[in-house]
Amino acid sequence: MQTVETDVLVIGSGLAGLTTALNISPKKNIILTTKIKLRGSNTYYAQGGVAVVLNDVDDLQNHFEDTIKAGAGLCDENATRTLVEDGPQRINEIIKLGVNFDKMTNNKYEFLKEGAHSKRRVMHVADRTGFSIENVLVRQIVNRKNINIKEKMFIKKLLVVNQNCYGAVFINEQSGKEECIIAKKVVLATGGAGNVFDKNTNWKGSTGDGLVAAYEAGAIIRDMEFYQFHPTAIQLRKKKRGIKNFLISESVRGEGAIVVDEKGQRFLYKYDERGELAPRDVVARAIFSQIKAGKEVFLDLTKMNCDLKKKFPVIYKNCLKDGYDIAKKPIPIVPVAHYMMGGIQTDTQGRTNIHNLYACGEVSSTGVHGANRLASNSLLECVVFGYRVAQDINKSASESMVFEKTESSARKLKKISAHKIMEIRENLQKLMYDNVGIERTGQELQSMLVFIKENLDILRNSKATNFFTHMETKNLLVVAYLITSAAIQRQESRGAHFRLDFPQTNKSLDGVHTFLEKSQDQ
Ligand code: SIN
Repeated sequence: MQTVETDVLVIGSGLAGLTTALNISPKKNIILTTKIKLRGSNTYYAQGGVAVVLNDVDDLQNHFEDTIKAGAGLCDENATRTLVEDGPQRINEIIKLGVNFDKMTNNKYEFLKEGAHSKRRVMHVADRTGFSIENVLVRQIVNRKNINIKEKMFIKKLLVVNQNCYGAVFINEQSGKEECIIAKKVVLATGGAGNVFDKNTNWKGSTGDGLVAAYEAGAIIRDMEFYQFHPTAIQLRKKKRGIKNFLISESVRGEGAIVVDEKGQRFLYKYDERGELAPRDVVARAIFSQIKAGKEVFLDLTKMNCDLKKKFPVIYKNCLKDGYDIAKKPIPIVPVAHYMMGGIQTDTQGRTNIHNLYACGEVSSTGVHGANRLASNSLLECVVFGYRVAQDINKSASESMVFEKTESSARKLKKISAHKIMEIRENLQKLMYDNVGIERTGQELQSMLVFIKENLDILRNSKATNFFTHMETKNLLVVAYLITSAAIQRQESRGAHFRLDFPQTNKSLDGVHTFLEKSQDQ
């Protein structure tokens, strides 16, 4: 197997990975790998923006309190303070690098409002904030002499001995061969796993590969039952590159769009006095209960007091391509999976329970999201904790690398057809949306677990000509296992986790997290 050595291995090229790599000392050699291409990540598609206190009428305590309140008793206060307090400086740094957040006519930054924020706090670049930030950082990355970018590298496993991580094995899609990267420090910034649900807002590569590699290597995984559903995605009539749903940013509601029923009547106030701007879990459940009762739900942007083409150009164009003119008629919406709030447990430096292994961004569980992430806190989390990971790596004494030679396993495996893999994947995605989505019951969760275990067994004991689909589908099954197991354990309803058989929040579980670690039988 081809083997290379480096000081730091950063896996993932979204905002968390790029921030980490850019802030590591230029004296260290870095290999930055990405599953498909450099500009492929959920960051790239992030519309809404970055929640940050850079507005004269806002304050840090307020952002802290809004985050804690939305998190429904499960945010880590120390991590949340770190997020809001480090945030302004990190955002000023990316502004200096060239991110042009939108300004008003008086040349001051424009702050948008989103659900559960008590102030206008969301900085944005129209409705393509992630795209704009990512482009600026990619321009920096490609000019760094100490950073070697390797695209089309699919993580197969982390190399860990005695709780010490010393690199990772990848499959290089171009050569089809395994490659081993040995590193003194390894950073996982591989994003979420929204494709475990058939309706989601994520880019096609979000299949939890880094999360699963960490779990299989012994990392502690926390709070996986909390998967955030975004209340307002349009169900596309024409699938676009396999994508069925398209996000309609919450900032659209912040600017005056309303949610209506088939008769054009608003109904969200029946569920929460904050109406369209209640926390995401509340709005998603309210819309879902209408849909479950056989009704259609629409987002009405027609009475908004702004030029939609200018303010939300990506949303406007994508809806129009699908035959919807958002300026003229309400559009049908559905809540879809959006953001993984659980993940690899880390401290505020991004350190995991495995020595020399870090995690940041959506794959991590830093503790800032609790049971329900406050809108637009995730890009902020990427820059704050990506930076902190880099600082920790810069501070650490250089350790000599001790590693074992790795060989590919020679287990005999049955062949499986691409068709069979796709069938497993599609069934999984549908069952996850129906049984482990917005509403759950113990019975459905248990039967989901049976499906997952049966199919994991099939995929773990087989090989396919298309390694990527096979590996991604296996990873999606492991992610499903983690979400479902955590959801079984939490016998209450809280934030994004709603159990029909335990509809109340159990106050005695405030601050009580769900932990999963790999044992021999899984
Ligand atoms: C949105 O624009 O609604 C998404 C922002 C987020 O998920 O934080």
